[in-house]
Amino acid sequence: MGNGSERYAVTPRILILGGTREARLLAERLVADDLAVPVTSLAGATDSPGALPGEVRVGGFGGVSGLTAHLWQEGYAAVVDATHPFAARITANAAAACEATAVPRLTLVRPVWEPALGEHWVDVADETAAAQALRSVRVSANQRVFLALGRQRVGPFAKIAGVNFLLRTTDPIDPPFEGCEVIVGRGPFSLEAEEALFRRERVVALVCRNSGGEGDAKLEAARAVKATIVMIRRPALITQSEGANATGGATALDVDAALSWIVECLRRR
Ligand SMILES: NC(=O)c1ccc[n+]([C@@H]2O[C@H](COP(=O)([O-])OP(=O)(O)OC[C@H]3O[C@@H](n4cnc5c(N)ncnc54)[C@H](OP(=O)(O)O)[C@@H]3O)[C@@H](O)[C@H]2O)c1
Repeated sequence: MGNGSERYAVTPRILILGGTREARLLAERLVADDLAVPVTSLAGATDSPGALPGEVRVGGFGGVSGLTAHLWQEGYAAVVDATHPFAARITANAAAACEATAVPRLTLVRPVWEPALGEHWVDVADETAAAQALRSVRVSANQRVFLALGRQRVGPFAKIAGVNFLLRTTDPIDPPFEGCEVIVGRGPFSLEAEEALFRRERVVALVCRNSGGEGDAKLEAARAVKATIVMIRRPALITQSEGANATGGATALDVDAALSWIVECLRRR
């Protein structure tokens, strides 16, 4: 009979706050590299989120106190916050709960999009400021402004008279205001198709949030047609530099860097 220590060699579990492509890639790599069991947490907004390796839990935790209790209960080796850069509440909650429980935390955040030289790029704080910025963009009657925003965020644009807007939604909806046409489409979109759409619809300005990441078709299409880009910056909490971030935890800009952090974290246990 052995000394029994092997019975306690439990594979560490990592809580991944997910809902993004990066969260899925990280879960896949943790399993493929046999590093840890990923437990991906989803908010529950999507009906069919697609298969994920490891364990999956769905639904809110119940604020900071709920997440804190969950962390005490589950004994994770670490938490990786791989939520969308605009999902600020869960990021703040994760920071507070990890601090309370002393569970190591990493924020996996996509690099922000930056303007290229010579581009007409307007950096704004929110949708209201974006609508304000559009007032100085010349949009003639046969041209459009493309709103790459959720339908619940387009209210401020309703007040701009004489500008035609194009809003893309995943499910058919009634136009949210006069002068706003809705098209239905579910990404990912190819650059070719997106550029063709921007040319066909004579898009002269794009309004979007700085979600970041590589190869974004709408951004590249806007660049190709030389449209004005009105970019809504991220919540102040979500910074993008490697190392410490505004929430006091560590930051990684890609899945490889997140994996290195996890390896180091497990080594130190
Ligand atoms: N915001 C976007 O544009 C966007 C885009 C793509 C994907 N997503 C994904 O959709 C989710 C919701 O986004 P949001 O902007 O509504 O977030 P949010 O405003 O930061 O969070 C709202 C509440 O939803 C719950 N929640 C959020 N993410 C969760 C997760 N991964 N697991 C468990 N509960 C979660 C939390 O509820 P409790 O307080 O009850 O714990 C949180 O307080 C995020 O996970 C995000 O990664 C968001």
